[in-house]
Amino acid sequence: MVKLLLTIASSFRLVCYYNSLAENRKGDGKFTISDVDPNQCTHLIYAFADINDVNELVPSNATDLQHYQSFNGLKTRNPQLKTLLAVGGLTFKTEKFSMMVSTQRNRTTFIQSVITLLRNYGFDGLNLDWRYPRRARSRPEDKQKFTLLCKELKDAFVAEGTKTHRDRLMVTASVSAEKAVIDASYEVAQIAMNLDFINVLTFDFHGCWENVTGHHSPLYQGSKDKGDKIYSNTDYAMRYWRDQGAPTQKLNLGLAAYGRAFTLSSASTDVGAPVSGPGEDGCYTEKDGFWAYYETCLYLEGVTVQLITDQSVPYATTENQWVGFDDKDSLDRKVSYLKKNNIGGITVWSLDLDDFTGQFCKQGKTPIINHLHSLLDSGKQNVKRITPIPPKTSKINKSGETIGEPCNGKSNGIHANPDDSNSFYQCANETATIQYCPEGLIFKESCKCCDWPTTAISTTTTTTTTNTSGRPIRGPCSGKTNGVYPHPNDSNSFYNCANGVAFIQYYQPGLIFKESCKCCDWPTTAISTTTTTTTTPKHNKPTGGPCIGKCDGVYLNPNDSNSFYNCANGVTFIQFCHPGLIFKESCRCCDWP
Ligand SMILES: *[C@@H]1O[C@H](CO)[C@@H](O)[C@H](O)[C@H]1NC(C)=O
Ligand SMILES: *[C@@H]1O[C@H](CO)[C@@H](O)[C@H](O)[C@H]1NC(C)=O
Ligand SMILES: *[C@@H]1O[C@H](CO)[C@@H](O)[C@H](O)[C@H]1NC(C)=O
Ligand SMILES: *[C@@H]1O[C@H](CO)[C@@H](O)[C@H](O)[C@H]1NC(C)=O
Ligand SMILES: *[C@@H]1O[C@H](CO)[C@@H](O)[C@H](O)[C@H]1NC(C)=O
Ligand SMILES: *[C@@H]1O[C@H](CO)[C@@H](O)[C@H](O)[C@H]1NC(C)=O
Ligand SMILES: *[C@@H]1O[C@H](CO)[C@@H](O)[C@H](O)[C@H]1NC(C)=O
Ligand SMILES: *[C@@H]1O[C@H](CO)[C@@H](O)[C@H](O)[C@H]1NC(C)=O
Repeated sequence: MVKLLLTIASSFRLVCYYNSLAENRKGDGKFTISDVDPNQCTHLIYAFADINDVNELVPSNATDLQHYQSFNGLKTRNPQLKTLLAVGGLTFKTEKFSMMVSTQRNRTTFIQSVITLLRNYGFDGLNLDWRYPRRARSRPEDKQKFTLLCKELKDAFVAEGTKTHRDRLMVTASVSAEKAVIDASYEVAQIAMNLDFINVLTFDFHGCWENVTGHHSPLYQGSKDKGDKIYSNTDYAMRYWRDQGAPTQKLNLGLAAYGRAFTLSSASTDVGAPVSGPGEDGCYTEKDGFWAYYETCLYLEGVTVQLITDQSVPYATTENQWVGFDDKDSLDRKVSYLKKNNIGGITVWSLDLDDFTGQFCKQGKTPIINHLHSLLDSGKQNVKRITPIPPKTSKINKSGETIGEPCNGKSNGIHANPDDSNSFYQCANETATIQYCPEGLIFKESCKCCDWPTTAISTTTTTTTTNTSGRPIRGPCSGKTNGVYPHPNDSNSFYNCANGVAFIQYYQPGLIFKESCKCCDWPTTAISTTTTTTTTPKHNKPTGGPCIGKCDGVYLNPNDSNSFYNCANGVTFIQFCHPGLIFKESCRCCDWP
């Protein structure tokens, strides 16, 4: 009998980042583990650990080890609390991830070190914060390697949990919300299968790297958005992750407990008004154009908050400063959105940016986290029927027996959908949830994964001459064992030999056939890098060069599409994409032309 799926009623996740660098802030900005209330978030993530040059997960700092202990000690005050250790972050060298994922051996070293570190210090799981596979200086094959990493982590965690009779460690990731980066970096359906939850970082859609004002975390598309800008909002990003094959229950909607500020360059104060650069720095966080929620409160005294109606988020402006942020009302709307769309939870960056002392905003201690906690806790998740299972009406086979009900008699786990090669079932106690592979891919029982169809996208058969007994005597497959071989005249295609007959198969444009793995893959080449310093930073601040006045990040080099600027504190580093790739403004990444 087919049971239709009922999602189990459960609370929403409230996943909160703890930024260990906030301990170094001065005065009232200083935030330590003792400032964390362990009874508000369901999950706390310690940011960030490091990867050493032999691919092991290590603390960023010798003092971090003591902090790990106090952090996990919070669980004595809330036994339900789960803690995770994050590795990566915005300023992390992506090369370290690339090297770590590159070979099975390197990944295994990492995974074993993860288990040891997490268990030794009492963490419940890992948070992968690679921003982002295939971006900037990572390697072209990193997208696929990231999938492997997620899968191998999950498998190793399952094995370790079973062996030691402990709750399995969780594996989670924080991922981009920008369509171009999602396309370049993730095999969404495959990673979603192996991750316990996915933090979609639905903020920083706009900021001081642009030349006009824009809210960094709009809920909806703006009425003036055109071209690729129509993707730059929370709603589009969440739907895109879902449509690429991530179950909404596994997704967390990202919220920023900070505002992004601009310096206006004209009298116009609308969304899309011209700016001359980032806003002033916050008094405590000390980064141009970046204001903690409590710093925004300082600025908002006596200022009228306005609503960007179409995008459903607030902004404010005085003199030449323009700031976009989130307040209680916009959080209400984002949480309603989440509930309506059956999204599993929220991720907040980060605890230290809330008004944790309560002295700045006069809304009590930790107003943002507090508000989210009450919004999410009040409604246990709706018990909702997910309809798209429809197993086509059961078929009757020749012997009159019923077949085709998705999970009937099947073990818990993932199974092919006999009625549709592009989707698959996740079976639990004979209950099915249907999931979809990305477009063009099909589900394969052999690897329980979504993959390109093996029979290639287009196939032609080369006639092969046969001798009188019908054995092939000429042609590229003659005398070869069954299998795939490179095409000597065309690296984009290969021979599939079956009983001496050659089938020429083609793969995605841009991929080449590699003898080493007998597979189609992106061409790989080494990365080259040179560094240019910008002028002499005499009085702390650099005085010339393309990064002046720009906030940290990567930018197009207008003179050379193969390279890009990496700006850090106003200093320019010129970096190069792999040969053949160009830097694209849309995803701020290196990609094929
Ligand atoms: C694997 O890691 C080692 C460092 O332990 C590094 O030297 C090597 O280059 C890595 N492999 C690849 C293919 O990057
Ligand atoms: C390492 O510890 C020192 C001393 O506590 C601190 O100043 C520094 O910011 C820490 N670095 C990191 C990356 O946590
Ligand atoms: C902003 O930059 C875009 C191109 O990147 C340009 O078309 C536009 O005119 C600029 N707007 C302002 C206000 O400078
Ligand atoms: C009919 O289906 C049953 C159950 O799946 C199977 O055991 C049986 O072999 C099938 N018979 C035929 C004729 O396909
Ligand atoms: C499956 O059924 C068993 C026994 O009825 C129950 O203990 C278990 O919790 C169920 N698992 C799920 C995922 O519903
Ligand atoms: C046909 O070719 C096969 C090997 O390619 C050979 O063993 C066989 O003897 C050949 N038959 C004739 C009739 O030539
Ligand atoms: C490769 O190209 C050459 C010249 O066009 C042709 O003679 C040869 O048969 C081709 N080889 C294969 C295996 O297709
Ligand atoms: C581009 O090249 C020109 C001429 O070499 C140079 O003057 C200009 O500064 C360069 N622009 C940037 C942004 O590097």
